[in-house]
Amino acid sequence: MRRAVTSDIPALSTASEYFFKLGAEGKRVRPTVLMLMASAMTNGVMTSAAQGGWRETDHAPAHQAPADVRRRQQRLAEIAEMIHVASLLHDDVLDNAATRRGLRALNLEVGNKLAILAGDFLLARASVTLASLRNTEVIELLSRVLEHLVAGEVMQMTAKPESLSSMDHYVKKTYYKTASLIANSSKAIALLGGHGEESAQLAYDYGKNLGLAFQFQDDVLDFIGSESLLGKPTLGDLKEGIATAPVLFAVQEFPELSDLVERRFKHSGDVQRAHELVKSSQGIARTQELAREHCDLAIAAIDRLPASESKYAMHCRRALKELAKRAVERSK
Ligand code: FPP
Ligand code: MG
Ligand code: MG
Repeated sequence: MRRAVTSDIPALSTASEYFFKLGAEGKRVRPTVLMLMASAMTNGVMTSAAQGGWRETDHAPAHQAPADVRRRQQRLAEIAEMIHVASLLHDDVLDNAATRRGLRALNLEVGNKLAILAGDFLLARASVTLASLRNTEVIELLSRVLEHLVAGEVMQMTAKPESLSSMDHYVKKTYYKTASLIANSSKAIALLGGHGEESAQLAYDYGKNLGLAFQFQDDVLDFIGSESLLGKPTLGDLKEGIATAPVLFAVQEFPELSDLVERRFKHSGDVQRAHELVKSSQGIARTQELAREHCDLAIAAIDRLPASESKYAMHCRRALKELAKRAVERSK
């Protein structure tokens, strides 16, 4: 991946390599989930001598699928991470962000223009790698993700007052901004692994529900999280004028909150008042419940994958389920 993001134009490579450098690469949750999904879908002993043949052990055979399949799945995981970082570079310009991953945001380091172009460059590199997979369905899935990221961002930016307090609008935006990338990439991993439509749909369901669960827990933590653990100030969503799930549930108990939502908490004292109403409502508990429901759906998708004789695949399935639980139980 580091090779894929370099350029012979010095200013461009400085900018595009910024979040791929050691210590700046973040948790890489997406590639981790995707490679676990690739392994979780394998089915025991490969017999074809042409593919090298292999014997399974309990522990991580890097060669559990034919090497070319595994390599293509790894390319896909890298593409997902490049798209993710590109969207963050653009997001930080839009949000005028000062920090990202504990570092100065790239827009502060190199300015908005170069930060945007670095994001474009990463998308271009991701596109070249995507095309090299020679799979038009996979290209279509990942292109759709780009459309969703942009649509979600614009939905958030331009929502009419009445949409701002709509849970449907919020969940759709959340799917576009957060869940679509991991959902469609998981499906692409399945297709590259040669799995059929039914299994690919289960991979998609896992990714979608993991993404939604993760984001709903993020919404909760923005209210009840610890600033020092999260590494960012709490109530950030309210301060940015965004009503997330806890607020939208609270509106159902305190209809007067919808005025504040519709003016994006812009009047003085709005953020404080909204915070208080959310705290005295069931908003946080109901959002946690919603996150838990999506966590359960993610786990159910893994449990419905076709039986596998591979111990290692079963190991990876347990890891994917554990990851879904952690997404909703985490405090940072
Ligand atoms: C983080 O949101 C932002 C996203 C998940 C997607 C942003 C998408 C765009 C800017 C559209 C451009 C897309 C591409 C593919 C270049 P946030 O601001 O809510 O979260 P944060 O706390 O991480 O900043
Ligand atoms: Mg942002
Ligand atoms: Mg943003």
